[in-house]
Amino acid sequence: MKFAESVERVRAERPALEFGTGVFDYAPAPEATDHVRLASRYGLFIGGEFVEPKSGRFLDTVNPATEEKLAEVAEGGEADVAAAVAAARAAFRSWSRLPGAERGKYVYRIARLIQEKARELAIVETMDGGKPIKEARDVDIPLAAAHFFHHAGWADKLAYAFPGRAPRPLGVCGQIIPWNFPLLMAAWKLAPALACGNTVVLKPAETTPLTALQLAGILREAELPPGVVNVVTGAGETGAHLVNHPDVAKIAFTGSTEVGKLIQRALAGTGKRLTLELGGKAANIVFADAALDQAVEGIVNGIYFNQGHVCCAGSRLLVEESIAEDLLARLEWRIRQLRVGDPLDKNTDVGAINSRAQLDKIRELTRCGVEEGAELHQSDCTLPARGYFFPPTWFTNVAQSHRIAREEIFGPVLAVMTFRTPDEAVEKANNLAYGLSAGVWTDKGAKIFAMTRRLRAGVVWANTFNKFDPTSPFGGYKESGFGREGGRHGLEAYLELA
Ligand code: NAI
Ligand code: MG
Repeated sequence: MKFAESVERVRAERPALEFGTGVFDYAPAPEATDHVRLASRYGLFIGGEFVEPKSGRFLDTVNPATEEKLAEVAEGGEADVAAAVAAARAAFRSWSRLPGAERGKYVYRIARLIQEKARELAIVETMDGGKPIKEARDVDIPLAAAHFFHHAGWADKLAYAFPGRAPRPLGVCGQIIPWNFPLLMAAWKLAPALACGNTVVLKPAETTPLTALQLAGILREAELPPGVVNVVTGAGETGAHLVNHPDVAKIAFTGSTEVGKLIQRALAGTGKRLTLELGGKAANIVFADAALDQAVEGIVNGIYFNQGHVCCAGSRLLVEESIAEDLLARLEWRIRQLRVGDPLDKNTDVGAINSRAQLDKIRELTRCGVEEGAELHQSDCTLPARGYFFPPTWFTNVAQSHRIAREEIFGPVLAVMTFRTPDEAVEKANNLAYGLSAGVWTDKGAKIFAMTRRLRAGVVWANTFNKFDPTSPFGGYKESGFGREGGRHGLEAYLELA
């Protein structure tokens, strides 16, 4: 069947669900923000207090959906980082000696306070970063709480997690996090570090610092001893000061492969421990025997969730050739139903691109895809007049050599390729320097196991995608980084095991 015929058939089968075409419109459903109080300016959280930065410098953080300034946050300089590390070092003595059950109580308390303040945290996450409120509300914040709950339970069981290994904390951990899941990445970093008895200096991303600062308020409310967690906002330079500070025992970084390599070089020979969670370009592999409508949901979730700002996004779709036309027709229909726009609207599926710089990068790589000869398809949704937005996009006729098939775009752009045999699918999936995640869609359990064994990716989802759980270790191979976060494996990154 020709592609156009497949498209016609799918449309004829499903006209009643044509949302937003006048047949079935959504009324606006904006989340109220009037109860959210943001300060106009935030200091650094050091030694349990908000303090003025010695640097005297501040950065603006904007709402990417409106381009309006939300607040100013301090830009930590070298002396600020040094003060935070000193506070963390001073706190380490007593925090690391506290019985695990006592540490666990604090971590449980943090988890419960996140749940109590979930609504406000979700709204601020959406305003500061542009993600749809339904994702912040249903994914980011509940998972952040879950990470603290999970690790609270480990705090007094470390000796059982590593029998005969006498686990000891490392010391001061420098943690540098990105802007795609701001509070959730703070939770992934802080929860295991605290449960294991370490103290922390956390450096949030420059475009999304606000929920980390709200979390600092929560830590104070939880009466976490001063200095156990310090939050130093700023940009790359602030992060570099933290990496280079001699009293930091370990660096945990999530972000670009480029910066990850810089950090690894900077730490070479210093004896500091390092875990890196970097970029990805996951293959989402759909076999002819898969349940196609479910696969379509997984493909959409894989690439358009959080505007594609996801390190494990399923940004390369590999479809078995015999079903490619049918699957792509269903996919195109589904993509056209996605509601793009105001992230604070509860019906929005795809929100704002996180920053002007990221929008420029997405545009540039999309242009490059067209120039290199791939065929561009985009949803014809209407984009808001202000703010940073990009329509759900997918490319067909993609060659493996195209930049859009090799580079992390970190936006709502899918590269579609086909394969004929499982061997070819494995070959194409593994044919990159990245190895963070992958997806396999098939009706056959044996095929799932045969494929997952051969895919060089830290996480492989089968008949689902983008599923996260604190009990399940997450991390990469090759240029996607090393070290695991979550599960028992994740604890090892914060312990000395004799
Ligand atoms: P980035 O790697 O520069 O930013 C991540 C964090 O590292 C931020 O907190 C940043 O302030 C900090 N940082 C930057 N330079 C540093 C340095 N020299 N030393 C220490 N810390 C430093 O990522 P960016 O520029 O925001 O995004 C660029 C691309 O990176 C994206 O388009 C995407 O492809 C990828 N990326 C991947 C992420 C992931 O989750 N794996 C997250 C964010 C970006
Ligand atoms: Mg912002």
